[in-house]
Amino acid sequence: MRKKVSIVGSGNVGATAAHWIASKELADVVLIDIIEGVPQGKGLDLLEAMPIEKRDSYVIGTNDYADTANSDIVVITAGIPRKPGMSRDDLLNTNYKIMADVVSKVVKHSPNCILIVVSNPLDAMAQAAYKLSKFPRERVIGMAGVLDSARFRAFIADELKVSVENVTAFVLGGHGDTMVPLPRYSTVAGIPITELIAPDRLAQLVQRTRDGGAEIVKYLKTGSAYYAPSSATTEMVEAILKDKKKILPCAAYLEGEYGIKGLYVGVPVKLGSNGIEQIIQIKLTAEEQAALNKSADAVKELVGVIGV
Ligand code: LAC
Repeated sequence: MRKKVSIVGSGNVGATAAHWIASKELADVVLIDIIEGVPQGKGLDLLEAMPIEKRDSYVIGTNDYADTANSDIVVITAGIPRKPGMSRDDLLNTNYKIMADVVSKVVKHSPNCILIVVSNPLDAMAQAAYKLSKFPRERVIGMAGVLDSARFRAFIADELKVSVENVTAFVLGGHGDTMVPLPRYSTVAGIPITELIAPDRLAQLVQRTRDGGAEIVKYLKTGSAYYAPSSATTEMVEAILKDKKKILPCAAYLEGEYGIKGLYVGVPVKLGSNGIEQIIQIKLTAEEQAALNKSADAVKELVGVIGV
């Protein structure tokens, strides 16, 4: 039987994720939104591209959660995006209300699905979805580390003029200004980038990664990034649907790992058909751990405001 992925929110991130997922023939896709007409129009448009793409993914758009029933994965992108000058945290209260409404409807129709949360502020929204859904932590995963690492990888590849395929990078912590890119664990064909890029220049690339979302918002003015965020989401969807056991940085509910308890923070996890199958604990220096703690504190403050 075909796999089924529902995507809540038919804006730029949701629709582009539907595009990547359908064009890779990973699953049938249901695009759902409260706005009438937009998910139906985008869904039909995508469906009509499938003969050209030679893909048998069935795509529909809808306003009715009954159409999302028994999804294997539900991706939640619903919420308002940033405008220039706004931080992700400015979206907190509005997007929490949207999240509460969405999660109750999703859970009712797909009680066994895996939730991938993409809405911002990412870690707090993932924690909200986890608490509201009452799902086990394995089945509520936040997308952010894959995106932040991809940005870091793109900048490293561009700097060294090497293939992006040669570059692996890790970014831990919350998806915010305090995120923690880890140069020590970032490599080019297995060579640590600390051997290849001078410390000053590396610090600039790290900062550009931290500001990666804001850099795009500044250009777009009316919204935030969507190609890389939806590509990152699709990598997670693929790892789960194909049971790849892929190690990816994702926001996960920590229960003591990395010395953090009761909080969503970005860490390396193993993704397979059960969702998060393992939280990978890597050794951090005192400085890296302090940066991770600081990032976790920022997430804690946000979840405190919405009380989840
Ligand atoms: C970004 C937003 C979507 O990082 O969080 O681009």
